[in-house]
Amino acid sequence: MTYSIRNFDDKVVLITGGTSGIGLETARQFVAQGAQVIVTGVTAQRLDEARLELGENALVLTADLRQPESLDAVISEISRRFGRLDVVFANAGAGNASPLEDVTAAQIHEQFGLNFSGAFFTVQKAAPLLSKGGSVILTTSFLNAVGTPGLSILSATKAAVRSLARTLGAELAPRGIRVNAVSPGPISTPFHSKLGLSDSQLKEVAAGIEASVPLGRFGEVGEVAKVVLFLASDQASFITGEEIVVDGGLSQF
Ligand SMILES: NC(=O)c1ccc[n+]([C@@H]2O[C@H](COP(=O)([O-])OP(=O)(O)OC[C@H]3O[C@@H](n4cnc5c(N)ncnc54)[C@H](OP(=O)(O)O)[C@@H]3O)[C@@H](O)[C@H]2O)c1
Repeated sequence: MTYSIRNFDDKVVLITGGTSGIGLETARQFVAQGAQVIVTGVTAQRLDEARLELGENALVLTADLRQPESLDAVISEISRRFGRLDVVFANAGAGNASPLEDVTAAQIHEQFGLNFSGAFFTVQKAAPLLSKGGSVILTTSFLNAVGTPGLSILSATKAAVRSLARTLGAELAPRGIRVNAVSPGPISTPFHSKLGLSDSQLKEVAAGIEASVPLGRFGEVGEVAKVVLFLASDQASFITGEEIVVDGGLSQF
């Protein structure tokens, strides 16, 4: 894909979970539009691949968001190199499929630790570097609006993040900082292969999803990334506390 618009010249953008899937494509689009991007992830191979692919306008750093203090070095490095942040995309997340009777306290702790606490502490720790006109985007999920068997905890983490867009939006509005959420539907990324399902279960789930999405397919990462860039841009200058759902109509009809 080629990009001719450069809405983000010299903007400084932090993307957590930026080494794969939605976060990586969003990083590509920000870089293509002139931004300096700081990307975080955990897996060494994907960190290396992202570093190679994104090039000199991206700083790729390790931060395991289940341990919020791992963000401290990232924020210090951003402060040292750039002295500010213009956009924060708190996107890192993962899920685990488990029916009611099999859910453990450890699964709840793990998923809330990454999806909710990880997003919360990303914003808390980045906020001092954001100034008037800054934009925060949180990744939620269509799951926060529908009941899907086996996904109680993952869905609840995303409902909690949806709530954060409103409360943190209210807290940061007096500083002129907007907080919004992007809510992906089923998007083609490695996310689904990490849910703990067997190959045959995955195939069955994928077929069920294609049959139930009104637009009849999985979404592409670029279709989510474009919405993130819109929310980050001045074109969304009077939008805060909002969530934009990108799910082919799955949770709407
Ligand atoms: N794909 C979908 O259908 C879908 C639907 C709704 C919502 N979402 C949400 O979209 C976001 C991005 O997911 P994706 O589909 O792009 O999945 P993905 O390709 O698996 O990417 C997930 C990203 O999160 C990072 N991550 C995983 N565990 C982490 C941890 N403990 N600490 C820090 N970073 C961690 C991964 O880093 P490594 O690669 O280094 O492990 C990767 O960069 C997630 O919040 C997910 O819940 C996805």
